[in-house]
Amino acid sequence: MPELKNDTFLRALMREPVAYTPLWMMRQAGRYLPEYNQTRAQAGSFMGLAQNPDYACEVTLQPLRRFDLDAAILFSDILTVPDAMGLGLQFVAGEGPRFERPLRDEAAIQALRVPDMDRLRYVFDAVSLIRRELAGAVPLIGFSGSPWTLACYMVEGSGSADYRQIKTLLYQRPDLLHRILSVNAQAVQTYLNAQIQAGAQAVMLFDSWGGVLADGLFQQFSLAYTRQVLDGLVRERDGRRVPVIVFTKGGGQWIEDIAATGCDAVGLDWTANLAAARRRVGDRVALQGNLDPMTLFGGEAAIRAEVRRVLADFGRVGAGGHVFNLGHGISQFTPPEAVSVLVDEVHAASRAYHEA
Ligand code: CP3
Repeated sequence: MPELKNDTFLRALMREPVAYTPLWMMRQAGRYLPEYNQTRAQAGSFMGLAQNPDYACEVTLQPLRRFDLDAAILFSDILTVPDAMGLGLQFVAGEGPRFERPLRDEAAIQALRVPDMDRLRYVFDAVSLIRRELAGAVPLIGFSGSPWTLACYMVEGSGSADYRQIKTLLYQRPDLLHRILSVNAQAVQTYLNAQIQAGAQAVMLFDSWGGVLADGLFQQFSLAYTRQVLDGLVRERDGRRVPVIVFTKGGGQWIEDIAATGCDAVGLDWTANLAAARRRVGDRVALQGNLDPMTLFGGEAAIRAEVRRVLADFGRVGAGGHVFNLGHGISQFTPPEAVSVLVDEVHAASRAYHEA
């Protein structure tokens, strides 16, 4: 494998000195890019795109051709794992993901198993192909859903407004939910290790729905299983550390607990203040975030001002580490020109915060 030409992202995650703050965006490959929509139309469906390594590689690289981003993220979805468990993933146009066979009774939960990783071969093949095509330009991020966030979809069967099904299980039969979560933790650990084996240079756990849990229950039903995943992850490959980012949407209040899982970086949504977060965890971990994705609808002056505010909140980087990102995924309605402004401002305005 060729040497990395731009390792700013990995260095920032390791809290090593860099000249500017690196940047990538959650959902950077997606529907706001016309070229993505064109490739998706060719593939016929979202899963057609994700399951074909050539298409997956193509859409992974699309945002990097347009913008000077400091990392690539594997094009896939967190729901590939429950799909491989046999739940029957479908993407209904305009409705989002849906499982044909959600976990709704004890027998289905008892029958749940860690899937054969051969069923996810297309993901690992995409990782290897993307690494080859990147040719060392920037690092490649692998990812998975957290055990809790996957369980939400597996029990609800789709996105949910109130999480009624999974919370009924949590309060009525916590033993059954713990069984799902421990199968998920094993599956996610094996899945991420296979991505690292295939060439992922950093990995991120998306705990998108951790923030819907009550304090105390978050630690028990989400964080404990994230920690189990991390405890068995391969953390070094080809003589270089493979950093781990844990992103919990709505998790700002638990930042000390999240940092204590052993992750290298904590991802924060836009409701958290980076200065306050840094005061609480010090420089024990890097922080990733946290511009409100809707800022990208505010026009050039607003984008530049909000970027400068986020950079100023993190402050002089010193012995810390900051990776710039949105606080959640980019909206499909975002004008691509807004992203050019974002990238320009982050790279230019951040330099002052890295001077000795
Ligand atoms: O970030 C990237 O560019 C990499 C690709 C990526 C996708 N999904 C592609 C995708 C990643 C990292 C994800 C993660 C994911 N998927 C999460 C965690 C991140 C988060 O947003 O909190 C979640 C919760 C999912 C589940 C999921 N997949 C939903 C809810 C949807 C529908 C969303 C929508 O906007 O319609 C998807 C589909 C999906 N995954 C799309 C993309 C680009 C859009 C589908 C399409 O092209 O038709």
